[in-house]
Amino acid sequence: MSNEIKNSKIMAAKKALEFIKDGQVVGIGSGTTVEEFINILAKEVRSSGIELITIPTSFRIYQLLIENGFRVATLNEYPEPDVAIDGADEVDSKLNLIKGGGGAHTLEKIVDYSAREFIVIVDYTKLSNRLCEKRRVPIEVLPIAIKSVSKKLKEFGALDVTLRNGAPNKYGPLVTETGNMILDVRFPPLENPESMELKLKTIPGVIEVGIFSRDHVSAVVVGYPKLAKVLKKT
Ligand code: A5P
Repeated sequence: MSNEIKNSKIMAAKKALEFIKDGQVVGIGSGTTVEEFINILAKEVRSSGIELITIPTSFRIYQLLIENGFRVATLNEYPEPDVAIDGADEVDSKLNLIKGGGGAHTLEKIVDYSAREFIVIVDYTKLSNRLCEKRRVPIEVLPIAIKSVSKKLKEFGALDVTLRNGAPNKYGPLVTETGNMILDVRFPPLENPESMELKLKTIPGVIEVGIFSRDHVSAVVVGYPKLAKVLKKT
């Protein structure tokens, strides 16, 4: 990752502190931008003494939160977090998202969509005009259904469907934290991401789709090398 992109992630992560208040339950997404956010939040907690309860969305983030001294809880204990902070792989001009580049989108969506506020932190390279211009859509699928789901996806307009590999450190397909597999799906740029999200979820065997529609997004914080901007829905 270039210094310019790393600094942009840090700028977005710092700005996101404005959305965190003392006493809150905070959903913590996954990915490199969120890792920057955890570092910054840990310093803020130490210097200001605010108290937070965090809800992780992956084992890696759970470990980082524990190492940084955060109190960690589950969504079953706190089913409606005050706020969730998470990254994204692509953000379109209406603030629809693609997530799941790290294979964590199922747990992320459960936490992000349950939160009262869902704040997205990205570097500027993630912005696009229409969703799917830059990235494929990750779809978590039950292993027994990868072929039947792939066939249905093609009927729904997919241009290409690839089973995500676990290489270089795992022989064969990647297995998610919930024991499933991921299909990375190339679609032409989407006119209506929200209806595609709902449509894909009707396919038997689909666990979760990496399209996060704008309805659930409260704000997107976009980091640039020296500043960050907050985008809200219009
Ligand atoms: C994890 O599966 C993803 O949804 C991440 O939130 C997303 O890939 C953003 O990651 P980066 O912050 O590393 O770009």
